Amino acid sequence: MAQGQATKVKKKKKSVLKRAAQSRERAEVNRANRTRVRTLMRRLRTAITAGDATAAGNLLQPTMSAIDQAIAKNVLHENTANRYKSRLTLATRVSHSRLTEALRENSEFGATFSDHMLVADWEAGSWKQPQIVPFGPISFSPALTPFHYGQAIFEGFKAHRTASSGLALFRPRDNFARLNRSAARLAMPEIPESLFLGGVAELVRLDREWIPHREGGALYIRPTYFGIDDTLLVRPANRFRLIVMTCPVGPYFSQPIRLLAEERFVRAFPGGTGDSKAAGNYAGGLLAARIAQEKGFHNVLWLDGVERRYIEESGVMNVFFVLDGKAITPPLSGTILPGVTRDSALTLLREMGTAAEERQISIDEALSAHAAGKLTEAFGAGTAAIVAPIACIQYRDRELQFSPSTASSVAAKLRSRLVAIQTGREPDTHNWLLSV
Ligand SMILES: Cc1ncc(COP(=O)(O)O)c(C=O)c1O
Repeated sequence: MAQGQATKVKKKKKSVLKRAAQSRERAEVNRANRTRVRTLMRRLRTAITAGDATAAGNLLQPTMSAIDQAIAKNVLHENTANRYKSRLTLATRVSHSRLTEALRENSEFGATFSDHMLVADWEAGSWKQPQIVPFGPISFSPALTPFHYGQAIFEGFKAHRTASSGLALFRPRDNFARLNRSAARLAMPEIPESLFLGGVAELVRLDREWIPHREGGALYIRPTYFGIDDTLLVRPANRFRLIVMTCPVGPYFSQPIRLLAEERFVRAFPGGTGDSKAAGNYAGGLLAARIAQEKGFHNVLWLDGVERRYIEESGVMNVFFVLDGKAITPPLSGTILPGVTRDSALTLLREMGTAAEERQISIDEALSAHAAGKLTEAFGAGTAAIVAPIACIQYRDRELQFSPSTASSVAAKLRSRLVAIQTGREPDTHNWLLSV
């Protein structure tokens, strides 16, 4: 018995010692990782200060990879990592800002650009030093890749002023992840997180005065990423450019939305690029949207590309229906864009006590539920639209009319909760904000 006890104690001691050794080993590896990032950063800064573009170019990729690895392994504190990331970008400031209060508060969505933009090129297998430069025209060969073969993708997210007088990006990592998923689908190189988030944070900090103060106002961040070869050969480009620009904006829609269910044209089909933010998806939708607008609608409501029965999404937003008190949105089947707002809405609705379901809903089901008085609300969810009530949906000769949204509507409550989190008026329990 006593011997058994002694063996047990011995075993326990051995396992404690083993765990201590493992923890020492981990600490050692973490220290080495941190030192590696610091050393690379120091060498990069020295190369930049000395104006040695070749050395800086050679050091950039390993430095970004080391930072990204350190973040993935939780070796660097987020604040330190963000500080390092923002130092990767070289900034040339404008000598005179174009900012006026009228531009900041009253600009049409997407029509006014702030003073600076972020530009980064990929060539010969690696990313070059990202630069922040004055916003302005760029010149390219008429043979440029996207002009002919559409190898171009983009993103859209926002920076808000917060209640504590700070600035915060809303879920930028999700947009970054979607940008890289779109890039993979269009045979484009992956963008390193440190380059993207570091550059965007630096850009937003620099143009922070452009963020509107009005309710619902924000700085809209628009990354665009495209091939920059000048050849007519049909193949993925060998050189790429990422540009990030920003615009002071208010909400995209100023009134409840009128939609026309589209039967003739389709936006996406299985195996296509519907779940990527490819520029071509939008080009293919412009004619249908224009025809709908000529008939007095804001946009189309896309139906599925195979049967033209199931509701998919609208031009710039995902859609939700409130049926029998439950919020329903079409599932991510590969043909609709996985909206960041859609995901936020699903989380918040459930938290607020509204059951939320991702399932197919056909236009026929919507019509009969509406006729039976069970379909009480419809709304769109997207970065630009935020949460926007739908006033009516026309399908053939039938019109689904929805009562005007009130403060107790599901859409109104969702919108106010979402905006309160984005602007720091309610706690960010999901870690959606990135302070810059
Ligand atoms: C086609 C489409 N669907 C949905 C959305 C909503 O996505 P998110 O909420 O990420 O802005 C957008 C806007 O980006 C869009 O263009």
